[in-house]
Amino acid sequence: RRQASLTGKHVLVTAGPTREMIDPVRCLTNPATGTMGFALARAAARRGAQVTLISGPTWLPTPPGVTRIDVTSAQEMYEATLQHAPTADFIFMAAAVADYTPVETAPSKLKKTDDELVLRLRRTPDILAELGRRRRPDQVLVGFALETDNALANARNKLRHKNLDWIALNRLNEPGAGFGTGTNRLTLLHRSGHQEELPLLPKDEAAEVLLDRVLTRYADSNAE
Ligand code: C5P
Repeated sequence: RRQASLTGKHVLVTAGPTREMIDPVRCLTNPATGTMGFALARAAARRGAQVTLISGPTWLPTPPGVTRIDVTSAQEMYEATLQHAPTADFIFMAAAVADYTPVETAPSKLKKTDDELVLRLRRTPDILAELGRRRRPDQVLVGFALETDNALANARNKLRHKNLDWIALNRLNEPGAGFGTGTNRLTLLHRSGHQEELPLLPKDEAAEVLLDRVLTRYADSNAE
């Protein structure tokens, strides 16, 4: 199969979980491993792109030829992503960003008591929505969605409200799909209304197919 080239293009990818510190030794996080984002970064680099990978905490090795920036919190991911987005031609936001962070991080370890502990949380910035507001008209913006209920309707809403070109919906409540698995079943939604169900695939193959679909439509729309 002949693969569309990304030579001369800058591809920005976010991946992995974020970590929101409660005190110096405890945090709020999620089970994301970064596998999908790292697979996308690897696939884009193989096609000749200059790739910037902004990653939350993960043990995954950096794919060859990829510039990696490690961050911990949603706020750090926000700052790094906004810094690199203006020069990006394609942006894939595969990170599982925490939606809430503690209002304050305790400076020293919280001692346990017999009382209930109440944590006060505030919203983190929505990085993808901010990129949707700032995007250049020629930039391609791809989000991911992970939903447990009304998945398609919620994903379509996100596509519109965050001003994206594509959203890749993860089917979580199916065997072999989602967090911590080597495989994924994605539904691709384009802003035109076009929709495609991909089969259950190893994440590196799902990344190749997603990249193919995005590049094919990009080439078609630039040929018009
Ligand atoms: O709204 P929701 O969190 O479901 O949207 C998921 C998409 O938005 C993913 O692409 C994720 O990387 C991105 N996101 C983000 N910043 C946030 C929350 C989500 O970039 N604070």
